[in-house]
Amino acid sequence: MIEVTVADITGLQVDAIVNAANSSLLGGGGVDGAIHRAAGPELLAYCRTLGGCRTGEAKLTPGFLLPARWVIHTVGPVWHGGSHGEERLLRSCYQSSFALALANGVRSIVFPCISTGVYGYPKDQAAGIALAMMRAHEERFERIIACCFSEGDAEHYRRLLAEPR
Ligand code: APR
Repeated sequence: MIEVTVADITGLQVDAIVNAANSSLLGGGGVDGAIHRAAGPELLAYCRTLGGCRTGEAKLTPGFLLPARWVIHTVGPVWHGGSHGEERLLRSCYQSSFALALANGVRSIVFPCISTGVYGYPKDQAAGIALAMMRAHEERFERIIACCFSEGDAEHYRRLLAEPR
């Protein structure tokens, strides 16, 4: 079941929320900053032990003070116009996050719109990639949620979900 919601990802009570992190895993702005603020300082302390994360890869941490049990930190590509492997790397973020979720018995997972903020990935293209990856994993999770931070962002997902497969 794929759902689209407009919400602050830090408030969602699910098995895992995905963080759009940077390669240091030491926090930042956007959804990364919100997740670290809500999880509390133990998250940063834990992340310091992870040695960073490569673009397109993902690492798992506890959720600490978050309602979510786990945080899956993934590093999206910075958009440089589309001919620098951005699509492959964004696809890899979803693939790596799903693989980590399956390896840890996650049944409900929430993704933010990875790379579409500071990293500048065009929102409609990113939504298409996200949905294709979610559809490819739909049968293996109870709930897959695309968590948008605005109605405008959610519209990209809702329009694509409404299209015949
Ligand atoms: N809940 C859900 N979505 C959010 C939240 C939130 N609390 N805050 C921001 N977002 C949305 C943004 O509106 C955007 O649609 O998350 C999406 C991803 O935007 P960014 O957080 O800017 O992430 P990204 O574009 O992947 O850039 C990552 O930004 O915060 C830094 O440390 C991070 O360097 C990394 C870079």
